[in-house]
Amino acid sequence: MGFVPKVKGFIGWALLVLIAIVPVVAGMQRPWSHAKQVIIRGSEDLVTQLPGQPKVDFMHYAGCVTVNENHGRALFYWFYEASSQSEEKPLVLWLNGGPGCSSVGYGATQEIGPFIVDHTDGSGLKFNPYSWNREANMLFLESPVGVGFSYSNTTTDYNILGDSFTGKYVPELAELIYDMNKDPSLHINLKGFLLGNPETSDADDWRGMVDYAWSHAVISDETHKIIQESCNFDKDDTWSNHNCSQAVDELLNQYKQIDIYSLYTSVCTNSTRSDERSTEVIYNSKFKMMPRIMGGYDPCLDYYAKAFYNRPDVQKALHVSDGLQLKNWSICNYKIFHEWSESRPSMVPIYQKLIAAGLRIWVYSGDTDGRVPVLSTRYSLSALGLPITIPWRPWYHQKQVGGWFQEYKGLTFATFRGAGHAVPTFKPSESLTLFASFLAGVSLPLER
Ligand SMILES: *[C@@H]1O[C@H](CO)[C@@H](O)[C@H](O)[C@H]1NC(C)=O
Ligand SMILES: *[C@@H]1O[C@H](CO)[C@@H](O)[C@H](O)[C@H]1NC(C)=O
Ligand SMILES: *[C@@H]1O[C@H](CO)[C@@H](O)[C@H](O)[C@H]1NC(C)=O
Ligand SMILES: *[C@@H]1O[C@H](CO)[C@@H](O)[C@H](O)[C@H]1NC(C)=O
Repeated sequence: MGFVPKVKGFIGWALLVLIAIVPVVAGMQRPWSHAKQVIIRGSEDLVTQLPGQPKVDFMHYAGCVTVNENHGRALFYWFYEASSQSEEKPLVLWLNGGPGCSSVGYGATQEIGPFIVDHTDGSGLKFNPYSWNREANMLFLESPVGVGFSYSNTTTDYNILGDSFTGKYVPELAELIYDMNKDPSLHINLKGFLLGNPETSDADDWRGMVDYAWSHAVISDETHKIIQESCNFDKDDTWSNHNCSQAVDELLNQYKQIDIYSLYTSVCTNSTRSDERSTEVIYNSKFKMMPRIMGGYDPCLDYYAKAFYNRPDVQKALHVSDGLQLKNWSICNYKIFHEWSESRPSMVPIYQKLIAAGLRIWVYSGDTDGRVPVLSTRYSLSALGLPITIPWRPWYHQKQVGGWFQEYKGLTFATFRGAGHAVPTFKPSESLTLFASFLAGVSLPLER
């Protein structure tokens, strides 16, 4: 058993969560060609006739991998070889959160994959010259079962509430791999992970969201003051304070008017069906949870993706159906989203453990995201109390300031100036620069 089967087995039941963009980087210990054989069933998974696909020189593979034979559980993956020297490049696993949202619908075809959906009717894909497969072999997984094309033949598998291992899953997955590596037969050469606008620590995430909304003119001074005076985000019964609940509702209602993931862009005014609204706010009055807000940067990309993946010829090309008995693909599974149970309130202890273990950890933040704003991340990371090795300063891209960054002993934090939640959608070229720096383990460009 190598790395991949183990991780696959784990993903089948375990991975839920996180609205952020969450790639994990796993360098392979074995030669890459071997790993490829493990992931891909064979040439039958090679994608050859994807409708609307621009011509490319690299191979890509897609299909459903059985992760549990007894239950008939299978996960859909899409794997793109690196566009050059793929054997020498690392393997990167990309996971989107939600929980319950598709890494294929978001990551692969809106953010960092080589083909981006770009037509209302699903008729086309455009080539993304900043695709991250220029730097690495990219694996996108739809997980857990019930998301996208991933499924189970055992209906009770869709009942996910009993799972203990839910949560902010990239750090948790990294921790699991780290712990399992004590067994040499399961060793995965995990190098590190990269997180974008991640939820990190509930109380700090809330404080950051509130302060950000106030400082970006989304809520009034009065509402901000009430929240400051009446909300104790460190407590379990935050919402039992009526004044607090009401003021936070006011904040969420203001965000419903705009795209919370990207403060300064337009919303998709096309959709009318209530179950397809790209923004949906829920928070549970009993448990302290971050509001779960669906969608992502759009304005309308979600709909293009939906149209594309429900085409019979597309499903056939991706080996998920015969083109006759179609799968019903949607970008997020609302049941998983709604029923997701809370994970650990803070990732800070896992960060501490994995920093001590020497993993490379980078966190980036688009500074126009209101959902997991840059302030939330800064509040959360400052709780780590790490020594600063390179103080706050700009990093450059094509002679302009791409954002700011600070390096700590064991962690790099970087912002993207003018980018929303799904950073690569807004800043594709800058994102690729950051990704390349992360993989190379070097600082972001310091000079104009
Ligand atoms: C689920 O059931 C279908 C229909 O019987 C079958 O074709 C498919 O292979 C099964 N999936 C798995 C993962 O066993
Ligand atoms: C809620 O706010 C009102 C004033 O608007 C104040 O009189 C009341 O004491 C507050 N309640 C709590 C529980 O803080
Ligand atoms: C969006 O609006 C345009 C023009 O009104 C229409 O042609 C298109 O079908 C709409 N798309 C969606 C996804 O509703
Ligand atoms: C697909 O799923 C959506 C929501 O889950 C449902 O409303 C719709 O009727 C389904 N479509 C088909 C063709 O099964």
